[in-house]
Amino acid sequence: MDKIVISGGRPLHGDVQISGAKNAALPVLTAALLTEEPCTFSNIPDLVDIKTACKLLRNMGVEIEGAGTIKISAEKMTNSVAPYDLVKTMRASILVLGPLVARTGKARVSLPGGCAIGARPVNLHIKALQDMGATVDLQGGYIEARAGRLKGADIYFDLPTVTGTENIMMAATLAEGTTVLNNAAREPEIVNLAEVLRGMGAKINGAGTDVITITGVSRLSGTEAAIIPDRIEAGTFMIAAGITGGEINVLGCIPQHLEALINKLRDTGMKIQPMEGGLRVAAGSKISSVDIKTLPHPGFPTDLQAQIMAYLCVASGLSVITETVFENRFMHVSELMRMGADITIQGGSAVVRGVPALNGAQTMATDLRASASLILAALVARGETEISRVYHIDRGYENIEKKFSALGADIKRVK
Ligand code: UD1
Repeated sequence: MDKIVISGGRPLHGDVQISGAKNAALPVLTAALLTEEPCTFSNIPDLVDIKTACKLLRNMGVEIEGAGTIKISAEKMTNSVAPYDLVKTMRASILVLGPLVARTGKARVSLPGGCAIGARPVNLHIKALQDMGATVDLQGGYIEARAGRLKGADIYFDLPTVTGTENIMMAATLAEGTTVLNNAAREPEIVNLAEVLRGMGAKINGAGTDVITITGVSRLSGTEAAIIPDRIEAGTFMIAAGITGGEINVLGCIPQHLEALINKLRDTGMKIQPMEGGLRVAAGSKISSVDIKTLPHPGFPTDLQAQIMAYLCVASGLSVITETVFENRFMHVSELMRMGADITIQGGSAVVRGVPALNGAQTMATDLRASASLILAALVARGETEISRVYHIDRGYENIEKKFSALGADIKRVK
């Protein structure tokens, strides 16, 4: 299995180009299930999760060509099954559920099960489909859904679930009548998906707010669309500038998607300026501590919690990081402590006491964002850090070691 080996202590300088967003590309690819006509999507990142999504769709008879720009046709679908083997490696496979039920009237999708960052149920996806008239049974670890044409409904999400909002928004595009999603998630990836669906002929209003209204149409057509840049990748490089005492031009990012992070990084002393095509991000003279609470968008993203924790490990003073989105998303803490960080978990909060320096160590990635946090810590640590189980990082970061080494990091992948 591959390892990443980093010798820390080099300030990073230069330009980095941000790739397309994994979490926008995944629902957009599954949206192609809603139409018999071909769709073309550009700025698709080259990631393991994207390959998994393509495998899942091909398994249903969907034709997919290309990389970066993908042409996808669900004209000749042969089945509506998402098998356990694929769903267990990527929870976002659940995104086929809504489109399949809407287009074919049936779906058999494996339940995702637990994962490293908590239970992550899909009850809200299921209840919303039932509200729209689908019959849903759980059998042998599978969600078995059946429906005639789905019916528009007034849906209330107990929590603003991102993939739940996407799944039901897609399902509602072909339903009879109007669906209102209340307490919908407001992430930029949902806005990207809504724009793609509108390009296919869907009638959607309010994406990006907590009330989304979808009026069903009888069929959707093909479309061409681009994926938005990955705000989590951009945020990771912004933090890299701060933690290494460097200055990076983060190109291709959309600053409005990063407001919560920009504000917090400025509070720590970093200098962040808009520039043509992105953001110029520079470390401050010291890192001041800040408190962070993760929240649904536009709050501070849980997908950047592990990375900002690595940064605050070397701040001066005490920071409290409270995770409110997932109940068990502190798996990176024990690894950071092996590098000399001073962190105490108190319920849903991590109390981080800044230390003057971290030390290289052998560490293990436990999930996608935790791996990014270990890379950031390693970039500033004294000596060499080995990060094993890097397959987690390949799920969500394109060419990560190439991008960091172009900025001056001493980073290599070892087979
Ligand atoms: C998506 C993102 C993930 C990100 C997360 C939160 C994708 C592919 N993944 O995951 O990177 O960390 O949003 O921003 O876009 N919940 C329920 N019942 C449900 C659904 C969710 O209780 O049916 C809970 C979850 O356990 C969690 C909260 O709602 O506590 C938010 O989860 P959700 O927004 O659904 O996360 P994902 O869509 O899985």
